[in-house]
Amino acid sequence: MTSPTSQPPRTGVPTLCGSLSLHAVGLGAAMHTAGYRALGLEFVYVPFTVTKLAHALTGVRALGIRGVGVSMPYKIEATELVDALDPMARRIGAINTVVNDGGRLTGYNTDWIGAVTALEEVTALGGARVLLLGAGGAARAIAHGLRERGAELTIANRDLAKARALAGEVGARGVWLDETKRAGSYDVLVNATSVGMSDVKAASPVAESAIAADQVVMDIVYKPIETELVQAARRRGARVVHGGRMLLHQAAHQFELYCGQPAPLEAMDAALHAQLAPA
Ligand code: ATR
Repeated sequence: MTSPTSQPPRTGVPTLCGSLSLHAVGLGAAMHTAGYRALGLEFVYVPFTVTKLAHALTGVRALGIRGVGVSMPYKIEATELVDALDPMARRIGAINTVVNDGGRLTGYNTDWIGAVTALEEVTALGGARVLLLGAGGAARAIAHGLRERGAELTIANRDLAKARALAGEVGARGVWLDETKRAGSYDVLVNATSVGMSDVKAASPVAESAIAADQVVMDIVYKPIETELVQAARRRGARVVHGGRMLLHQAAHQFELYCGQPAPLEAMDAALHAQLAPA
C-alpha cells in the first residue's frame, strides 16, 4: 500500500477507495471522484452497500482498499473492528473514516473536523459562546470538536438527560430545547438535530425572531441545502453556514488521509452542489 504522505507511482492500476453504508447515497463518490480528476490521481471511489460490516472490513484488508468512509449505522461498531483509533475518534467513540496502511486499519472521525472547519471559515471558535442543538451521533462529534477548539458550549436537546450526559462528558452545559428562545444571545448557533431534513418535514428548530443579526448560524442538515433555518437566518442578517460546508470539509479531510495531498476544495464543492441541487 502507499503511505498517506507519498504520491503513488503511476502503474495503470488504480487505487481503490469507497464507502461502507447500509444505503449508499453517492455524495462521497461525487466529491472524491471530482477530487481525483482535478489532481489527475489514479484513484477510483466505489460506494459499497453492506449489511455485514466486519466482513466488509475484512474485504478492505484483503483487497488492499486504501480507505473507506463509514456511515450510520456503522460508525460505532466500526471502532471495535479497526486496529487503531485516532485520539479524537477514540474520545468521540465513533468513526466515519478507515485508512488502510498495508492491512492495518486506523479509524478516524472527520465529522468533527468538517464542522469546526466550516465554522472557522467564518468565525473563531476559541472562547466563542456556542449553542448546539441536539445530542445524537452528529451532535456528539461536533460537541467534542467545539470543545477541542475551546468554545464555551451549551447543548440543548429535546431529551434533557441526553443533553446533560453529553455535556458532562465534554465539559459543557446541558439544557432543554427551550433554550432556543435565547438562541440570539449566543455567538454561534448550530443545529445538529434532524429537524429540517427534507424527508422529515420542512421546519426550523428555532423561531426566526430568536435569531440575531450578529451571530453565526450553522445547520448541519444539507438536504435541502436551503433549510428553513438557513433561510430564516439569512432573512435576519446572520452569517450562515449551510450543511454542505461541513460535508465538504469532512470529505476533504478524508481525501487528504487517503491521497496524502491537499484536497481540491473547489472541484469537490462543485461536485457536491451538482448532487444537492434540486432536480
Ligand atoms: P444523528 O446521527 O443525525 O445525530 P440521532 O443520533 O438520531 O441522529 O440524533 C437526532 C437528534 O435530533 C437528537 O438530538 C434528537 O433529539 P432526542 O435526543 O430528544 O431524540 C433530535 N431530534 C429529532 N427529531 C426532533 C424533533 N422533532 N425536535 C427536536 N429534536 C429532534
